[in-house]
Amino acid sequence: MRRLIEKAENEHSLDKADIVALLSDGESTQELLNAADRVRERYVGSAVHLRGLIEFSNYCRQNCCYCGIRRDNKQAQRYRLNPEEIVLHARAAAKLGFKTVVMQSGEDVFFTVDRMTDIIREIKKSDIAVTLSIGEKSFEEYQAYREAGADRYLLRIETTDKELYHRLDPGMSWDNRRRCLSDLKSLGYEVGSGSMVGLPDQSIESIADDILFFKETGVDMAGIGPFIPHGQTPLANAKGREFVLSLKTMAITRLLLPDINIPATTAMETLNPNGRIIALQSGANVVMPNVTQGEYRKKYELYPGKICVNDTPVKCRTCIEAKILSIGRTIGTGKGFRGEFLNGRPD
Ligand code: SAM
Ligand code: FES
Repeated sequence: MRRLIEKAENEHSLDKADIVALLSDGESTQELLNAADRVRERYVGSAVHLRGLIEFSNYCRQNCCYCGIRRDNKQAQRYRLNPEEIVLHARAAAKLGFKTVVMQSGEDVFFTVDRMTDIIREIKKSDIAVTLSIGEKSFEEYQAYREAGADRYLLRIETTDKELYHRLDPGMSWDNRRRCLSDLKSLGYEVGSGSMVGLPDQSIESIADDILFFKETGVDMAGIGPFIPHGQTPLANAKGREFVLSLKTMAITRLLLPDINIPATTAMETLNPNGRIIALQSGANVVMPNVTQGEYRKKYELYPGKICVNDTPVKCRTCIEAKILSIGRTIGTGKGFRGEFLNGRPD
C-alpha cells in the first residue's frame, strides 16, 4: 500500500485496481490521509476557502430516494425565501466576509429563469462569486445564469453506477445529469461535482469509478460526503454513515486531482463532531458554513442530525474560523477559484 500511496502522491495517477486496493485496506488509512494532506498543501496551500451556503428553498420536483426533501416526503415542512430575502441573505454573507455564496435548493419550479437571473444580477453587485446548486436544467437556462454572472455550479453525479443511480433517482436519467455537467463546463462555469459514499448496494469498485470520473471529466471541485439515511425516505433502514470510507474517497480524489477545490462536507461533521477538521487534514480546502437564517435551517433537512440548525450565520462563521486557525491553517481572502494558488495568488 505504501508504494501505491507514494505513486499517487508523486504521479497523481492510479488505476482502478489500485484505488480499490487502497479503499479496501484497513491498515494504511492514516498514511493515505497524510499523503492527501501534503498534496493539498503543495497544490492549494494552507488557506481554507469559506463559501456561505444559502438554502433558499426545499421545494423539489424530484424524488431521490435518499433525500429528505424529496417530493413524496409529505412531512417535510416546505419553505422558500422570496427573491428579496435571498438577496438580503447574500448581502449579509458578503458583510460577514464571505467571498462566495452558494445558492442551493431543491428543483423548485417557482424560480423561473427570469426570477433567477434577476437574483443573480442583484447579488453580483456585491462583488462576490456566485455558485449555483439548483439541479438539472437545460443548456439555455445554464447559459442565462452564466450570462447573469453565476461563476460556479455544483451538481453531484451522486454515483457513476448507472443502474444504482436509476434505482435511487426514479424518473431521472444519469445521461442527462452527465449532459448537464458537460453543458456547464462548455459555458465556462467552474464545475463542481461529487458523490455520496455508503449508498445501499454501492460497491467499492463503483466508488473507484466515481473518483476516476472526476478525473476524466476534469471537474474543478468535488464534494464527497457520506450517505446518511433519512427516516422519511424509502432508504430509512439503510446503513450508510460511512465516515472513514468517505474520508478515504476524498483523500484519493485529492491525490489524483491535486489542484481542485474539495470541501470538508457538512455530512462528515454530522457523523463525527470533528469531521470537518479531520477532512481539512485529509485533503479538503473548502468549508461551506450555513448562512441561512432562522427556522429555515431545520427545514432544509436532507438527512437527520444536520449540524448547526439552531445557530446563527455569525456564530457558524466565528466557530469554524476558530477551528481552522487552531490547526494552523488560514482563511482564504480571495474568491478561491481553482488554480489561484499555483498561479501565484497565495489564497
Ligand atoms: N437539487 C440540487 C441537486 O440535485 O444538485 C441541490 C440540492 S441536493 C439536496 C444536494 C446534495 O445533497 C445532493 O447532491 C446529495 O448528494 C446530497 N444528499 C441528499 N440526501 C442526502 C443524504 N441522505 N445523505 C447525504 N447527502 C445527501
Ligand atoms: Fe430534490 Fe433532494 S430530491 S433536492
